[in-house]
Amino acid sequence: MSRAFHQSDLGPRGRIIGHDPADIAAAAACLQAGDLVGMPTETVYGLAADATNGEAVAAIYEAKGRPAFNPLICHVADLAEAERHGLFNAEALRLAEAFWPGPLTIVAPFRPGSAVSDLARAGLDSIALRVPAHPVARALIAAAGRPLAAPSANLSGRISPTAAGDVARDLGERVACIIDAGVCDIGLESTIVSCLAHPVAMLRPGGVPRESLEALLGAALGSTTRDILPRSPGLLQSHYAPFAPVRINVTEFQPSDSILAFGNIKKPTFIDEASFVNLSPNSNLRQAASRLFTSLRVLDARQPAAIAVAPIPSTGLGEAINDRLVRAAAPRS
Ligand code: TXA
Ligand code: MG
Repeated sequence: MSRAFHQSDLGPRGRIIGHDPADIAAAAACLQAGDLVGMPTETVYGLAADATNGEAVAAIYEAKGRPAFNPLICHVADLAEAERHGLFNAEALRLAEAFWPGPLTIVAPFRPGSAVSDLARAGLDSIALRVPAHPVARALIAAAGRPLAAPSANLSGRISPTAAGDVARDLGERVACIIDAGVCDIGLESTIVSCLAHPVAMLRPGGVPRESLEALLGAALGSTTRDILPRSPGLLQSHYAPFAPVRINVTEFQPSDSILAFGNIKKPTFIDEASFVNLSPNSNLRQAASRLFTSLRVLDARQPAAIAVAPIPSTGLGEAINDRLVRAAAPRS
């Protein structure tokens, strides 16, 4: 899997490497090549990929065995970089200035034009941003020169990793390398707040206590409500639905359809070029995942009578792709 490390290079610690400047440069090269890296942070170890590379982000979901595409936290160097990807209102700015770098993740509206992939945001028009405090995470972000999408580096449903060995046990074969910087100080994930609406709402308790946030803001945090942004993607149903009705597992297309194809499906002659998108002509599910949300948006923008989606296998990443498509096709309330 790794291009920078080969089986023959691997010592007794497998893909675990140190954290001196040469190690960090090697890990950054892996990220730039689209590979996954186990990254220490002050909270837990993350499974990092280039957030601007949709296929690299797809590899995160594949490696974690996530049945669905949860939106991921994008790790950036500083507030200035965060503002290139998200729109910070006054409260978001105050929180960032007070708690970054550190264990706080801020959800803000996505800034149009940011290079962060749709898949890293699971198609949402918001983005979760964090500036980690861990010097090794900071060095890696700087060396990679791009935002890093990173969920906790555990298999889906398993305990979050707080040491390099934990990452190796769950994901050792699926990462290019794991940077060992010892045990995480905090050992519990970042606090996630939503600054999409007023008041600021806590989406997940974590490394920054509620009291500290409320003291800074001089107000109580809102609770997590469905319209502010739930953690569970199941509650995000409407966010994934295009305006056009969606039909899935379609094999007979109509002239009024826009078509989302997969594999060796050819454009019917009665469909114009702009109404046909193939997620992956070579049936590569990683490529299909990386194109899914953008393609739905592109087709929807043409205001078709319907979006007809060809069958996509439910193996590997296909399960998450179909999970999203089933939601998009669900009856609207
Ligand atoms: O401490 C941490 O936050 C660690 C380290 C690696 O930084 N990361 C982490 O990531 O815990 P993960 O994927 O395990 O949890 C990310 C959470 C998920 O619950 C996800 O739903 C939420 O962040 N999230 C991401 N983007 C969001 C968005 N746009 N709106 C609401 N929630 C979002
Ligand atoms: Mg997690």
